[in-house]
Amino acid sequence: MINIQSCAGDPVSARFDNSPFLITHDLTDNPLFELERIVALARDMPANLIEYNTGELPKSIDPNLTPANGLSVSETIRRIEECQSWMVIKSAEIDPEYREVLETCIREVGEALGEAASEFSNLRSFVFVSSPGAVTPFHIDPESQFLLQVAGDKRIQIFDREDRDVISAKQLRDHWHGGHRNQPFPAALADRGEWFDMPPGIGVHLPVLSPHWVEVMNSVSISFSVTMRTTASETYRRRFA
Ligand SMILES: [Fe+2]
Repeated sequence: MINIQSCAGDPVSARFDNSPFLITHDLTDNPLFELERIVALARDMPANLIEYNTGELPKSIDPNLTPANGLSVSETIRRIEECQSWMVIKSAEIDPEYREVLETCIREVGEALGEAASEFSNLRSFVFVSSPGAVTPFHIDPESQFLLQVAGDKRIQIFDREDRDVISAKQLRDHWHGGHRNQPFPAALADRGEWFDMPPGIGVHLPVLSPHWVEVMNSVSISFSVTMRTTASETYRRRFA
């Protein structure tokens, strides 16, 4: 039981795949998100499913210029408090224990949505470990997701995916055709984004292709993301094919 609930007072189904909203969850005491357990997860994962780099990044960065942190994966996790880094383990569900958490999340979201749950495909899960102050640069993702904050505080700024001043149709087309997730931050329009504070126990739903960037506050951050494709998210994405 992860106990996913909308914080907005309206049901999850009212906003899912349309607009961002906060939820609560019960993952904060789950031992799967202790650092040594994440080291063990990383040890068993193929190297191409782990991405990590320095966390001292600007809001906009060319992905080819993202600096490495000079450490191994295990060192990065164990020294995350002081090594100024950002790391993601992709497809954590390869490990059966993480798979169970992913499936529970999906089942609970499905229950909240009713029959729409049968439309889910490409279910994946991601574990993020970040140093205090780490920045995830401005980007878009090709799936709908729930980003669940497990430890430490984050804040995320999410922009309207329909705002073509913030993200142009050309950028969305390039992304469809295999372009990188990172996008130039629209500094002159920074106040158009909506801020969501994410202490442990809070999560946020991001509809597909919602432009966003993330900043970790003063302590180590651990987050779990559940991503999915739905009929609505794929229909939206194909508008830019
Ligand atoms: Fe993202």
